[in-house]
Order: sequence, then structure tokens, then C-alpha cells
Amino acid sequence: METISLLHNRRILLGVTGGIAVYKVCTLASRLTQAGGVVDVVMTEAATRFVTPLTFEALTGRPAYTDMWRTSDGSDTAALPTHIAHIGLAHAADLLVVAPATANTMAKLAAGIADNLLTTLALATSCPILLVPTMDAGMWSHPATQANAVTLRERGVHIAGPAQGRMASGLEGEGRMVEPDDILGHVRLVLGREGPLARRRIVVTAGPTREFIDPVRFLGNPSSGRQGFALAQAALDLGASVTLITGPTPLPTPIGATRVEITTAQEMHNAVLLAIEKADVLLMAAAVADYRPETIAPSKIKKGDKGLIPRLVRTPDILSAVAIRWAESGFPRVVVGFAAESEDVVENARTKLTTKNLDLIVANDITAQDAGFAVETNRVTLIGRNGQAEELPLTSKTGVAEAVLKRVVELLAQRHPGGTSE
Ligand code: C5P
Repeated sequence: METISLLHNRRILLGVTGGIAVYKVCTLASRLTQAGGVVDVVMTEAATRFVTPLTFEALTGRPAYTDMWRTSDGSDTAALPTHIAHIGLAHAADLLVVAPATANTMAKLAAGIADNLLTTLALATSCPILLVPTMDAGMWSHPATQANAVTLRERGVHIAGPAQGRMASGLEGEGRMVEPDDILGHVRLVLGREGPLARRRIVVTAGPTREFIDPVRFLGNPSSGRQGFALAQAALDLGASVTLITGPTPLPTPIGATRVEITTAQEMHNAVLLAIEKADVLLMAAAVADYRPETIAPSKIKKGDKGLIPRLVRTPDILSAVAIRWAESGFPRVVVGFAAESEDVVENARTKLTTKNLDLIVANDITAQDAGFAVETNRVTLIGRNGQAEELPLTSKTGVAEAVLKRVVELLAQRHPGGTSE
């Protein structure tokens, strides 16, 4: 797994309470560690009935803490109780995640009870807290638990889930733990909140469009949407609120983004013009079709012996429409375009930068094997309004996204330091 800049060297206290979902929290501990986080696990006694501290120690490479009176290596610390020795944990933490969070632990946190190491740390820390409730549906919907959730939320605690689905009891209901990758998304959302793009609204387009010839055939392209989704995640990591307008792709929505699904170039045009009304930035990473069939046959076209030449007409150029709309508003915003080129990459991108009135263009040589459509990596050149080209080395699409967002932060700071959405 790739490291995540936002998590690099961040101190995460992972509180683990007793529920069968503990086995999935092992995956979470591993993901957080691989992403670059420094993860200290604190388990309740009940949690150790499901998984041993050793499992978490192996996954995080750090001691796992279990009780107030003993250190993780078992030596008696009666002379220096762990709740004092490890109060440092509470103060060093950037985030406390409690997963799974049982009804019992939630009740204690709501009441301010500190009767084990985890609840003591929760009371001692001033860092943000993310709870991942996991329990039988009946326990979750119980008025006592609901009231505790309200109290905790009002106090600024973040609560992820629970999700709907099958529970250990075999029953269906609301009480399942949110999956580890989604918990990771919530962690990013909470940690990124006050980042350099806090209170900025960013619209990202991603994926292909489809232009139908008849009800079962379309003109499309191999865009996977990965670069656009990586841009959305990178913007969320910096604290932005993100609208992700995407063509058909099975990629999961980054946690915190608002997903708008479209199929055709015309639909993307309409969705973009609506979304940018209140936005500061548009990142136009979608591979939008330039042509569509003039008419869509109402029923499946029967094959014949002769060839078939569908007449194609132009789709609207979205960036040009945006340039006109934003010029009317008179407020400078930031627009980034992408140029997938197969020849004279930089020269063609420079021309597009000017004709589409962009602040930055990301030029992409799609003839390279390791870059472009439907691969994990990308090889791009960033070109700004002054025409200067910055060639990035071969990097992941996340790496490209972070480089683009870094430029966006700089551009916004130059243009309107206060933000449009305040
Ligand atoms: O297709 P082209 O190379 O011109 O795309 C360059 C940029 O223009 C991309 O950012 C793309 O998303 C955008 N585009 C657009 N409307 C279209 C086609 C492309 O905004 N109809």
C-alpha cells in the first residue's frame, strides 16, 4: 500500500473495544501503519478476548497497551501506574480512533467515565476523536445509545457508521462496523479538516463519458477515472469540500466527497455548470467525448451486409462554457485542465491552456506504456499561465494529484486569500 502524505508520522491512538469486528480492526491497524501513521493500540480487556495484543504489536511495530497497571511487556508498573506513564500517549496523539466502539464504551465516553486505560486516555486527550460504533442493531437503536451518540456528536466527536447489513447474530440491521478502507477515509477526513483548502469548494470531474448510438451501443474511451478520484481524495486530504462528477466507473467514492454520476458529455456539461456556481476550483480530469452520434436510434440497430456510418456532431466543450460563466461572475477562480496527447505533448497542451483560458494544464503522453489511461501510474508535465513546464517524474496518480493540488493551493493564495465560499 502506498503511503499517504496526510498520515505520514501522524500519531494515531487506536482504541479497540470488545466486539467480533476486532478482527477487521487488525486490517485497519495494518493499513494505518503502512500509510505512514504511528499507531499506538489501546485495548480493553474485552477486546483481548477476541485478538491478542501481540497481533496488534506485530502489525504496528509498537507496543499495544491493555491495562492501567501493567505495561505491554507484562512488567508490573505498580510504582508508576500506566495511566500516568502513558498520559503522554494522550497528549502526543493527533487522533483517537475507537474501533469497534461498543455501546458500553460509548456510554462511558458520553458520561466521562475513566475506568480503563482507553476511557482514561479519551478523557485526557484534546485531539479529535472518531468513533466507529459496532453492535447489535437493537443496542444501536436503543434510546440510551442514541442519546449517547447525540451527546458525543454535540461535543464534536466524529461518528462513522454503523452500516446496514448482516451482523454476528445472523440478523440484518444497522450495527455493522464500517469497513476498514472506509474507516481510513473517515480518518483522512478528520485529520485533513483544517488543511490549507479548508472552506474551499472544489469540483472534480473524472472518468469517461458514453455517447449512445442505440440503446445498447455507445462511443466511449478507456478512462478508468483513477486520476480524477485521486484528485478528489487529495483535495479532501487538504480539507476541501469536494463534488466529484464522474462518468461510469466502479471506483468507490472517497469518503466525504459528494458524487454526481453522469453518462454523456452533455450531462457532464450540465452538472459542471451547476456545481461551479459555488466553487473556487474546477479540476477537469474527465475524458469527455468530443463527438456524439447526431441521433440515437430508438431500438437496437440491426446488422446488415453494408457498413454503417453514424453521423457525428460535436459535444459542448465544457471548459469553454466554464470560462464564459466564470468570466461573467468577475471573480477569479482556478481552473485546471488535462491534456491527453499522443504527439507534441507540451506544445499542444500550451495551446489548450490559452484557448481554454486555464490556470494550469496537466499534459499527459498517452503513448507511454506506464502512463495515461487505465494504469496506476502517470507521467505528466504541469504547465502554468507563464508557459513554464514542470516535468514530474513517473509517479502514482496520487503523486500527480498531490502535485496538482499543491499548485492549486499556491494559485488560490495568490488570487483570493479569503476564499469565495466564506
Ligand atoms: O479533449 P481535450 O484534449 O481538448 O481535453 C482537454 C481538457 O478539456 C480536459 O481537461 C477535458 O476534461 C476538457 N474537455 C472539456 N469538454 C470537452 C472535452 C474536453 O471540458 N467536450
